[in-house]
Amino acid sequence: MAFNLLPKYKVNEAFSIKFTAMTNQVLLHKAIQLVKEVGVFLKEEQFRISAKDVDHKSLNSLVTYVDKRAEAMLVKGLSDLLPDSGFIAEEDTSDKKGELYNWIIDPLDGTTNFIHQLPMYSISVALMKNTELDMGFVYLPHLDEFYHAINGEGAFLNYKSIFVSDKEAIQDGLIATGFPYYDFKLLEEYNNTLSYFIRNTRGVRRMGSAAIDLVYVAAGKFEAFYEYNLNPWDVAAGALIVAEAGGKITQFDGGSDFIFGRSIIATNSKVHAHLQEVINENLPV
Ligand code: 2AM
Ligand code: CA
Repeated sequence: MAFNLLPKYKVNEAFSIKFTAMTNQVLLHKAIQLVKEVGVFLKEEQFRISAKDVDHKSLNSLVTYVDKRAEAMLVKGLSDLLPDSGFIAEEDTSDKKGELYNWIIDPLDGTTNFIHQLPMYSISVALMKNTELDMGFVYLPHLDEFYHAINGEGAFLNYKSIFVSDKEAIQDGLIATGFPYYDFKLLEEYNNTLSYFIRNTRGVRRMGSAAIDLVYVAAGKFEAFYEYNLNPWDVAAGALIVAEAGGKITQFDGGSDFIFGRSIIATNSKVHAHLQEVINENLPV
């Protein structure tokens, strides 16, 4: 049975006290199963969608019935698993607020890629207890890469431990970012910062899914990722996965509210100070 392949999790005490009806392993297993099922749905639908299925929420912000249906599947499934939990979700399927537990979910991170038939899109699901992240899942259905982390228990890709890279210098590193796509007030400052990284790193990548950027930092593929104007559902799960893989995460100014604070630098920790200095000096978000 697939469940037996899971490593043994020691989930924190408060967590196990809360979930009396089912063991944490069962909750974890069921949540993972749900995210994977929604991933299969995304993968199947990608080849069915056409231009008529695309709505414009605002400038360059696209949505399809796939985003909405995937979110509804997650909200229903996660509510069944944890009836008292609430949601912070991109497509506003549920406005329920949980007293203690809230799921922060993006059913489809990288909708523009998805619509353009590119494989780089993901599902991002995090469980927040009070203000602390307890679990994070990021699934790339096309590549069948399932990343997850449990607070204090490490980060995993397809159930194998992952760690950030140990490169010390950005000159040897690959850096990921997201270009501004709707708010162009700081475009010139953004471009100056980008110029610096183009000249001083091995290369810069723009995947189009912040959740993927983050798990690729966690897995040691990228040394760093930075972006501003992001939403909690773009970063919550990936941030926990980076932290549990040994990375460092801050806002541009070094602050710690990178989930709700709309700017994020996530690194292997070794290149953090260098990146933060360049970004903070040039990009006053
Ligand atoms: P989304 O697909 O869930 O909207 C960072 O680039 C984030 O911005 C992505 O994770 C993506 O999340 C969001 N985004 C929305 N529109 C975008 C666009 N046109 N180009 C790039 N990212 C976009
Ligand atoms: Ca989305």
